[in-house]
Amino acid sequence: MQNKILIIGASGQIGTELTLKLRQIFGKENVVASDIRNGNYEVMDSGPFEILDVTNKDDILKVVQKHQIKQVYLMAAMLSAIAEKKPKNAWELNMDSLFNILDLAKDKIINRIFWPSSIAVFGPSSPKQNTPQETIMNPTTVYGISKLAGENWCAYYQNKFGVDVRSIRYPGIISYKTNPGGGTTDYAVEIFYGALQNRNYTCFLKEDAYLPMMYMDDAIDATINLMQEEKIEKYTSYNVSAISFSPKEIAQEIKKHIPEFEINYKPDSRQGIAESWPQSIDDQQARKDWSWKHQFELPELVKTMLQGLHYTIK
Ligand code: SER
Repeated sequence: MQNKILIIGASGQIGTELTLKLRQIFGKENVVASDIRNGNYEVMDSGPFEILDVTNKDDILKVVQKHQIKQVYLMAAMLSAIAEKKPKNAWELNMDSLFNILDLAKDKIINRIFWPSSIAVFGPSSPKQNTPQETIMNPTTVYGISKLAGENWCAYYQNKFGVDVRSIRYPGIISYKTNPGGGTTDYAVEIFYGALQNRNYTCFLKEDAYLPMMYMDDAIDATINLMQEEKIEKYTSYNVSAISFSPKEIAQEIKKHIPEFEINYKPDSRQGIAESWPQSIDDQQARKDWSWKHQFELPELVKTMLQGLHYTIK
């Protein structure tokens, strides 16, 4: 029998598309979506949906028992830029939610967890290019600190209690169904709205702020493939890489479709966050351990985003 799945944070950017894809693969009755707020109508209409506060342990247990959940994808988190404005809330949300789910697995109520980490676990003295899986990690953002602590807690629960928790260090994720909220890489989604609606975008990062990025479909494939592996080689948070580009480069690619598009730069505090992160990621280990491979390069990503948003915006 298919293990029933709960997605927490199903109204968020990744949670939305993850829910839809998991329902396509495993059937709507096997995939329960949940979030603290209502979400995308496709998610709400295509299968079970529960309003759930991930910091409330009792409520989570009720939902898990009601639907006989065996796997949890914990996609709720406060992202980098907004976490700098609310450090304590970010720490509480990002850590309490993780402990609540890890404890369910420790108590053998569920048997597998997906928990996303981020390129934000790296810091100013980590290597900037081809940042290895294991290297100096000294995050300087609240978000990065919470993700690195989370990685260590996942490893602890795995070693000590045999908890099967799987994790990926996501780069910036680009998609059009649901917007990201409060991240440093959000510019790479906003820029498409600017291009289509105003033929203009003012970027909050500098023109040469290179960051690792990935199209949503690749992120979803990586996530589901890692969760589908019978057994994984290493219970670690895997580096996964797809493409790296700067605001100037993505703007140039957009101009190929919308020649009158103009980009301006007005860097704010998010530039400091971007500068503390890697520019590109070495993901050899994921490619070796579970055959990770990305599909979308920058030209295809830009084309897909412009087509997708063309219909959404109108
Ligand atoms: N996209 C995230 C952010 O910008 C990074 O994990 O906060």
